[in-house]
Amino acid sequence: MNVPLFDLTRQYEGLREEILEQMDQVMSSGQVILGPNVKALEATIANYLNVKHGIGVANGSDALFIALKALGIGEGDEVITTPYSFFATVSCITRLRATPVFVDIDRETFNLDLNQVEAILQDKNHEEKVKAMIPVHIFGQTVDLERLERIKKDYSVAILEDCAQSIGSNWQYTDGTYKSSGSVGDAATFSFFPTKNLGGYGDGGMIVTDSDTIAEKCSVLRKHGSKQKYFHETVGINSRLDELQAAILNVKFKKLKNYIERRIAIAKMYADLFKEKGLEEVIDFPSVKDDHTHVYHQYVIRLNKGNRDALRRHLTEKGIGTSIYYPKPLHLQPCFEYLGYKEGDLPVAEKACLETMALPIFPELLGEEIFYIANSIQVFFEQ
Ligand SMILES: Cc1ncc(COP(=O)(O)O)c(C=O)c1O
Repeated sequence: MNVPLFDLTRQYEGLREEILEQMDQVMSSGQVILGPNVKALEATIANYLNVKHGIGVANGSDALFIALKALGIGEGDEVITTPYSFFATVSCITRLRATPVFVDIDRETFNLDLNQVEAILQDKNHEEKVKAMIPVHIFGQTVDLERLERIKKDYSVAILEDCAQSIGSNWQYTDGTYKSSGSVGDAATFSFFPTKNLGGYGDGGMIVTDSDTIAEKCSVLRKHGSKQKYFHETVGINSRLDELQAAILNVKFKKLKNYIERRIAIAKMYADLFKEKGLEEVIDFPSVKDDHTHVYHQYVIRLNKGNRDALRRHLTEKGIGTSIYYPKPLHLQPCFEYLGYKEGDLPVAEKACLETMALPIFPELLGEEIFYIANSIQVFFEQ
């Protein structure tokens, strides 16, 4: 049996007619960039997250760059972020000539360790310089939003949530209410890259914010910094969401709730099978505390390094796709050598890079495939 890590073609089967119809409408209309479909998607996403504005852009990386610039970050500013994320989380900071301050992650959730974030915010060497932080809801698990709100207030630091992997994830507050990832920061960004929980058939991204001022700045920055055509008060970039992608995403948004439910059900199946097979001793698998939601953009397990690499080879031989998110932490990337970080500085993130592995998870993954994956893992440990 061959089980891919991710398969977009299965999803298309059920959506083909509706998507083609929408695409035909876009192409027949002649309006292909920033038109009614983009506007509709912006309103849908903003409404879904209970925020005021959505600004469609070309991808999640540009969304981060534009939002951070709109928050006023520039040369000399420090921005706290995680070393355990996709490159775009940090390149937006250095592209603005600001300085990333990497903080280690929590061992269980792989999200930023907020105790260490607060320690940096109280540190005399940083407190004046830190202007913003970028928490990432990594793999689809929400960072403690209640605490983020407190940090935002207590330290007057701007918060930009990187929600590229977390659309639809929630945090339950101590009073029992819920908030979504993306609804708490001064701004938040999303990616509609095809593999994302809400993905298009090409690149796409969005910034959301409650602030009229930030929204206005973002919409100007996505069009070369031009409010009035051919007049530029600031230098922006070309980062527009196209109508075809927005039309597709409007179709797929209607299925997002189902997609998320299916991902959660698959994660539960994996966990139940691992427990049933007595694999809890050798595999750490994701767990979610209380009633917070994890939307399982990735299903990441953890083993000791020897086992991780050998199991990965074994699964490849069995035809099962796996991946490593992420093989090298951001603070040790060659392009950031100038920042002066060295091995051992952020031990939790560094260890995670050596011990974790992602298993296939996507809404159309079949039950028999999940059994096959769990059985293949069991065989590996029984050899
Ligand atoms: C955490 C995170 N941030 C940002 C991005 C960038 O999104 P995009 O690929 O749409 O530019 C990604 C996408 O992989 C991501 O996973």
